[in-house]
Amino acid sequence: MSDTSDVTGLSRTEAEHELKRLADTLNAANVQYHGEDAPTLTDGEYDRLKRRNLEIEALFPDLKRADSPSDVVGAAPSDGFGKITHTVRMLSLGNAFDDEDVHEFDRSIHKFLGLSPGSVQYTAEPKIDGLSLSLRYENGTLQYAATRGDGATGENVTENARTIADIPQTLPDAPDVIEVRGEVYMSHDDFDALNAAQDSAGAKPFANPRNAAAGSLRQLDPSVTKSRPLRFFAYAWGDLSAALSTTQSGAIARLAELGFQTNPLTRVCADPEDMIDHYRHIEARRATLGYDIDGVVYKVDDLNLQARLGFRSTTPRWAIAHKFPAELAWTRLEEIDIQVGRTGALSPVARLQPVTVGGVVVSNATLHNEDYIAGRGSDGADIRDGKDIRVGDWVQVYRAGDVIPKVADVDLSKRPHTSAPFEMPATCPRCGSPAVREEGDAVRRCTGGLICPAQAVEKLKHFVSRAAFDIEGLGAKQVEAFYDDSQLPVKEPADIFTLRARDDAALAKLANRDGWGATSVNNLWQAIDEKREIGLGRLIFALGIRHVGEVTAQDLARHFGSWNDLAGTVSEARAAALAYRAADEAEERERAAAVSEGRRARVGEARKAALLAAAVPAQAARAWQHLIDADGIGATVALSLSDALSNPDESGAINRLIDQLARIVPPEARDTSSPVAGKTVVFSGTLEKMTRAEAKARAEALGAKVSGSVSSKTDLLVAGPGAGSKATKAADLGIETLDEDGWLSLIGDA
Ligand code: IVH
Repeated sequence: MSDTSDVTGLSRTEAEHELKRLADTLNAANVQYHGEDAPTLTDGEYDRLKRRNLEIEALFPDLKRADSPSDVVGAAPSDGFGKITHTVRMLSLGNAFDDEDVHEFDRSIHKFLGLSPGSVQYTAEPKIDGLSLSLRYENGTLQYAATRGDGATGENVTENARTIADIPQTLPDAPDVIEVRGEVYMSHDDFDALNAAQDSAGAKPFANPRNAAAGSLRQLDPSVTKSRPLRFFAYAWGDLSAALSTTQSGAIARLAELGFQTNPLTRVCADPEDMIDHYRHIEARRATLGYDIDGVVYKVDDLNLQARLGFRSTTPRWAIAHKFPAELAWTRLEEIDIQVGRTGALSPVARLQPVTVGGVVVSNATLHNEDYIAGRGSDGADIRDGKDIRVGDWVQVYRAGDVIPKVADVDLSKRPHTSAPFEMPATCPRCGSPAVREEGDAVRRCTGGLICPAQAVEKLKHFVSRAAFDIEGLGAKQVEAFYDDSQLPVKEPADIFTLRARDDAALAKLANRDGWGATSVNNLWQAIDEKREIGLGRLIFALGIRHVGEVTAQDLARHFGSWNDLAGTVSEARAAALAYRAADEAEERERAAAVSEGRRARVGEARKAALLAAAVPAQAARAWQHLIDADGIGATVALSLSDALSNPDESGAINRLIDQLARIVPPEARDTSSPVAGKTVVFSGTLEKMTRAEAKARAEALGAKVSGSVSSKTDLLVAGPGAGSKATKAADLGIETLDEDGWLSLIGDA
């Protein structure tokens, strides 16, 4: 019987059979959807079958099965795997795109460490295009294998990892605790064979070896993983109970002795020239390696220096990935669409005739902003030799790794005669509000704020994103649907937290809708309730305030420790923020006037006059100072916060959200075991054993705040020779002062 026939014609027996068939198909599709990278049913087909299942159940309610798909839809993607919190975070790498970037990497390392040029050696090895995996061994046996996930928490794929021949189950001569990290990948031959098998089984082929490897490792059934030939290269480590070596190259050799595959193209290089030589060597062999690589990774060889260099927020200072040049293809630009972002930025997007670039079909490319389209870079200089981009043009697009494709070049000889230069709209295409481009800003922005549906939806998507509230089962797609939902609308973050109560009161209950069932709805309520307790940094980031990214949000959280303190300070500082902006504008006006009058600009005087005229109350000035005293917070962020919190629509939405939360968790000091954790430290004068940058990074890694000026909030001054006025001020204020050796012995580095 066809599954498109009218359900009202079904006999009882036919209905029973069909309900079983639908349960099997839909439940299998669920598993595949969540466990594999290639779903077996299209969304449309899935919805159609689910609707049919509901219709039959409505006709024969007593035939509803215990495993009815109506009840099990929409389980969160990660439901299949347990979560594992990494003992040592799994980081990503910064990128170098050309030889100059490699030289700059080397210079910055020498500068940070205060070493003379040529003192640091590096390893160079292929960057494998797979997915990273962390393997924890205790007392010689594999305890678990975890994917990278968001770097802090990954998925437990232990049973699947055990099926990979390159991964030893036991390590006889290893330290008691050792976490080995590396890349899971699939060879070209194995990839081709797998796709041939997929093809003859009528299954969708994988787009590339990396997707095939990811799809194979994330199988809920380990026997499927076992049937897929995965491999593993070890190149790093996490937690260790005993050091492997004193060098990166020595540690890699030790991993090889322990039984891991390590990459045979790993070399030790004396300087950037050597590194670039080895890069060219690897690049020349790229096509014959038999597996995908997308660049070369350089790492400082001396592990002691690696430790001194430490980390930025998500990448180590001691390593960088030198990427291979992007792949290119020519195609036609069919349309330029305007997208409206969370902060109102209008972003032009190129709609392309689909073209394959490096194995991936590309049909969109970013066009950044109007200057970029006109052929001008952010510094005003020509890009693409000044060629503009027009609808109808023949354009060259490129893809580098996972980044959004970009337009590299335009073929003017193929430009249609009827084409016209592109013009950015002067009004928002979504809400019709004026779209303005402010002095010094490359982008045009919709001025509609929260009345603009595009901005509101983008803000909501940001709010639920992984680094923000990260509500399981409520992603971008669901948020978009709820925004337009007439019965259960979600127009602002607070509405997410009132959904359940509104659903309880509503007639059209969520559980009766397509794509939802009793189980998935209950899971959603639970996931939402779990987030009523949220970290302060996440909360600040989730608000989507311009210039306040993840790192800045954490900095603010650490500096203020509570939402009320932050909001109170920002509001007290409002008069100072306005004066600051007025001073900026006066400065700008003075500059322009000086240019047109052909005289020297008196910028300082213009600023001073504007600040004086504003007569900022002392309390506001103090609050402003407290705000910009926070690590990493400058006037731009402070002004943006001030604008957001003084806007009645925005602050209203924030307050309604906070009313829905049960607890805002203050951030933990980074390392509370250190005597300087939570202390505010000022460095002054010359340091002899390390550079200022290293001292600051080290202090911050121990949980201290580093400030540039001495105030009553300072806990400790580290004064080297020539500390001058800061030392005097610290003495006046009775602040503890140490010399460099005293500091080193305090933090245990002496
Ligand atoms: S080292 C702390 N070495 O590239 C640095 N990573 O873009 C740890 N990758 O997440 C990474 N080959 O998945 C390192 N030889 C290699 C690599 C490599 C591939 C991946 C890894 C990492 C990503 C960063």
